[in-house]
Amino acid sequence: MLNGKSILITGIATDDSIATATLRAALRAGARVRATALPRDLDAVRDVVSSIDPRVEIDPLDFTDADAVSTWTRERKSEGCRLDGALHAIAFAPRGALDGAFLGATELDVTQALRTSVWTYAVLARVLDELRGEHGASLVGLDFDAGGRAWPIYNWMGVCKAALRESSRYVARDLGPRGVRSNLIAAGPLLTRAARGIPRFELLTNAWEQTTPMAWDPRDASPVADVACFLLSDLARAITGELIHVDGGFNAMAMSRGLTPS
Ligand SMILES: NC(=O)c1ccc[n+]([C@@H]2O[C@H](COP(=O)([O-])OP(=O)(O)OC[C@H]3O[C@@H](n4cnc5c(N)ncnc54)[C@H](O)[C@@H]3O)[C@@H](O)[C@H]2O)c1
Repeated sequence: MLNGKSILITGIATDDSIATATLRAALRAGARVRATALPRDLDAVRDVVSSIDPRVEIDPLDFTDADAVSTWTRERKSEGCRLDGALHAIAFAPRGALDGAFLGATELDVTQALRTSVWTYAVLARVLDELRGEHGASLVGLDFDAGGRAWPIYNWMGVCKAALRESSRYVARDLGPRGVRSNLIAAGPLLTRAARGIPRFELLTNAWEQTTPMAWDPRDASPVADVACFLLSDLARAITGELIHVDGGFNAMAMSRGLTPS
């Protein structure tokens, strides 16, 4: 599916990361992969990636550091690096933005969450536009739920994901004429490092357990990774500005099974 494609994967932190599952799936699908890692995670990411394929190059890059991003992009361009696609698997919010009273978060909490979880999508879109080949490229990002509803937790990250959805549509609008597609996957809850940073995350996994018509395994990111590969591939060449749920059917159900008469 990705034979001959050159894909950039961001957001690998641990073996459980959605980006790590996507790395595995993309390599299986025939892609050449390059990865970036938050500079402070670099050693751990090298361990994770080298156990999968030691040939994958990993560059330290913080996508909120504008100078570092432009230097990295310039260097790749001068080496003749061409990208056919990229996975955006980047999110962060301080604890104050994730739990407790929604109005209890500080401006700094919210700014940091939006900058990391939304603005970096636009940054990566620009990078991809600059390094794309003549046949365009595909950008894939990760949403949660996309149901347009308030959860008992998640708070400002819900706001970030709503902003991410709109950002993806505007990226699709502006880069579509140059063959660059922008799509999101709304993934069900997965036990990753980011998830462990969300207080009372088990409320979400419990809701999935009680609602999805199909089994949902929060330890298996491979169903999300497979759809990411599809969106990165030419099979999805006419899909842009779209959002695909990979959530075991959660979003299609009106009620949890516990509330349904047996
Ligand atoms: N885990 C879930 O339940 C779930 C569900 C739906 C969507 N998502 C989304 O999936 C994406 C990946 O998260 P994950 O769950 O795999 O967790 P993760 O912790 O494995 O990955 C998050 C990544 O973001 C990176 N990151 C944070 N700030 C960065 C910056 N400034 N520059 C570059 N990288 C930065 C971290 O280094 C980390 O690799 C996120 O967008 C997350 O919101 C997760």
